[in-house]
Order: sequence, then structure tokens, then C-alpha cells
Amino acid sequence: MTLTTTRKSDVTWQPLQPRERRWARMGQRPAIAWLTGLSGAGKSTIADAVDRGLTEAGRSTMVLDGDNLRQGLNRDLGFTAADRVENIRRAAEAARLMADAGLVVIVSLISPFRAERAAARAIAGDIPFLEVFIDTPLAVCEARDPKGLYDRARAGKIPNFTGISAPYEAPEAPDLALQTRNQSVMESAQPLIDALLNLSADRPTRA
Ligand SMILES: Nc1ncnc2c1ncn2[C@@H]1O[C@H](COP(=O)(O)OP(=O)(O)O)[C@@H](O)[C@H]1O
Ligand SMILES: [Mg+2]
Repeated sequence: MTLTTTRKSDVTWQPLQPRERRWARMGQRPAIAWLTGLSGAGKSTIADAVDRGLTEAGRSTMVLDGDNLRQGLNRDLGFTAADRVENIRRAAEAARLMADAGLVVIVSLISPFRAERAAARAIAGDIPFLEVFIDTPLAVCEARDPKGLYDRARAGKIPNFTGISAPYEAPEAPDLALQTRNQSVMESAQPLIDALLNLSADRPTRA
């Protein structure tokens, strides 16, 4: 097998037209909301509610859901610590591309490690980035168990299961923390809808 490698110094950044021209055409500013929390916390459910709410309000959006990414872009990755790190890096890079194109991007990914969430924020660069903690206690997630995963994890059938056999590092200073216990989905989602509507409002680049 012949391996061809490209040295970083051989790659140059191809300049593109200013992002602001795309954004002005779309009449909105991009943003990234990064939803983190345990399995069953409500990330996908809230991401969908926020996505629909923003669409209704006339925004252009995209959702990057961890489960969906694992069926395509990240299908080669498992759940070891190294693979979770790569899973998050790719999601962050994809979110950044979509945001550069002008979309409001909602990422729902367990993303259990603080360092990787910080790395995702760094990849977002100057794109407004909200770390959103879906703050649902483990016991509530386990009682919900929408996919039957906790049952199987407790039975030792799923290795490296976050909250059971793998760590979850809760955010220490999230931009937003959403409770879901004894709240409707819309009650949980509304603060994030409001924050993203505000961030993505079109502002003229020149006064
Ligand atoms: N306020 C709420 N916000 C989000 N989900 C809720 C809420 N109340 C109950 N749920 C339920 O909790 C479960 C969350 O599952 P899901 O969104 O798939 O979690 P995750 O994507 O974090 O693994 C769903 O069955 C959902 O209907
Ligand atoms: Mg989910």
C-alpha cells in the first residue's frame, strides 16, 4: 500500500468572498447552539422544537444530531474516548461550515467532556456559540429511557455508556441551562428560541 501524505505547509487557505455577503443575502446572522447532556436528557427533542420554532419565525436553520451524524459523516467512529473526541471535532467543524454559510445551527450531542466542548467553541471562532446544558438528572433520564439504553447499559450490554460506565462532565458555566423535569418541551425550549432569535437578527454591517 502506498501512503500519500500532504504536509500542512503544502495546503493554503483559499480566500472566499466575505461571509457577510452571504449573511446579508439571507437576512440573518449565524449562530451555533451546542446542546450537551446525558442520554435521554432531551437534547434531540429540544433541538427539534427550537429548529421548528426558528423556522416558523423565518430563520434558516440546521440540526446536527449526534445519532444522525453517526449514520453518515461519523459512521466510522465508536464510543471510545478517542472516538468521542473525533466525533465532537467533526460535528464542530460541520457546524462552523454551516454557520459560515449563514445558518443557525443546533447541535445535539452528549459531548461529555468539558475540554471537547471548549474545543468546539474554539472551532466556532467568532461565530456566536451557546453552550446549552440540558440539565436533567440521571435518575430522570433513566426513568424516561426513551430508547431502552439505560436498561441495557445497567445489564452491562453497552460499554462506555455515559452516566453509567463512562463519565459525564457537567458544564460549570453554561451560557444557558434548561431544566426539563416537570416542564413541557416548549417551556424548556423557549429560552433557547428567544436567545437564538436575538443572536440571529439581521443587523446592518454599516450604521
Ligand atoms: N421538557 C422536556 N424537554 C425535552 N424532552 C422531554 C421533556 N419532558 C419530557 N421529555 C421526554 O424526554 C425524552 C428525551 O429524549 P431525547 O430528546 O431523545 O433525549 P437525548 O437526545 O438527550 O438523548 C423524550 O422522550 C421526551 O419526550
Ligand atoms: Mg438524542
